[in-house]
Amino acid sequence: MLSEKALKALNRQMNAEAASAYLYMGMAAWLDARNLRGCAAWMKVQAQEEFLHAMKFYDYINERGGKAVLAAVEAPPAEWNSPQAVFEGVRDHERKVTQGINELVDLAASERDHATNAFLQWFVSEQVEEEAGAEDLVHKIGMVGQHPHGLYMLDRELGKRKAGGD
Ligand code: FEO
Repeated sequence: MLSEKALKALNRQMNAEAASAYLYMGMAAWLDARNLRGCAAWMKVQAQEEFLHAMKFYDYINERGGKAVLAAVEAPPAEWNSPQAVFEGVRDHERKVTQGINELVDLAASERDHATNAFLQWFVSEQVEEEAGAEDLVHKIGMVGQHPHGLYMLDRELGKRKAGGD
């Protein structure tokens, strides 16, 4: 049985994951509007993964006898200054998500809720990958700078990302 505090925190994180999906969809829309189709495709896969993350919380809450409570999802920004700013936004957002997961782990540990702690460990590892991936893209796009050819090549590379991860 989840404590009331844990249930609230898990529901909050479920909402944060849904908000992540929406943020990345908003970024995809901005990129698509600039014909950066590969970057947009990458972002759409990212959005799908975030929705799966939200569903993992949904399923876990139910498995533990709790009720998933859906709250309003924050609207993402509609404008970014550059493709680089978009990917910096991904990196900064993932850092915030990591913070949220870490706080949840702290809560589970303080409540000696081993099952929730074990459930969250998947997200702890996932955040290491998410942050590293975002950092890598910020680095790559920084190297490309304002060179259209470099951006074209990067866009092509990012367009190869396939859905189906977690
Ligand atoms: Fe679900 Fe990218 O954190």
